[in-house]
Amino acid sequence: MERTFVMLKPGVLQRRIAGHVISRIEQKGLRVIAMKLMSIDEGLAREHYAEHKERDFFPDLISYITSGPVVTMVVAGDGAISRVRTLAGATKVEDARPGTIRGDFAAVTRQNIIHASDSPASSEREVALFFAPKEIHDWEDPNAGWIE
Ligand code: CMP
Repeated sequence: MERTFVMLKPGVLQRRIAGHVISRIEQKGLRVIAMKLMSIDEGLAREHYAEHKERDFFPDLISYITSGPVVTMVVAGDGAISRVRTLAGATKVEDARPGTIRGDFAAVTRQNIIHASDSPASSEREVALFFAPKEIHDWEDPNAGWIE
């Protein structure tokens, strides 16, 4: 069972669309096993986005992601990393197809609504950066036996 780190970026709460975005993840059958509302400080933002530190958009990205509260989650399921990335849609909003989260809710790439881990290594690093083990509640689905 794979896990992935998901973050609803600043602005999602202000736009009152957090429920819509979380519903897409739940409707797909994935399991939210950790979730919290938090404000990210600059140090955590820089660590989380360290791979982009040489990019010209990095200062903007850091100031945006620290500009308001975010919703962070750990999402579990078979193939969770690629399934959440597919639900999210392309990073660049002009490439994000209708029906995806970014395709339906985002008009600006910097404010592209959702972050989702792009690989097992990123997922492991990001989950550990944002969640203590005791904050993760890996519940069982009593219906699982009926679906497989
Ligand atoms: P995310 O999936 O969180 O990973 C890195 C983020 O950097 C990305 O989503 C965008 O929010 C942002 N980003 C990527 N490319 C650009 C760009 N060309 N201009 C501005 N922001 C970008």
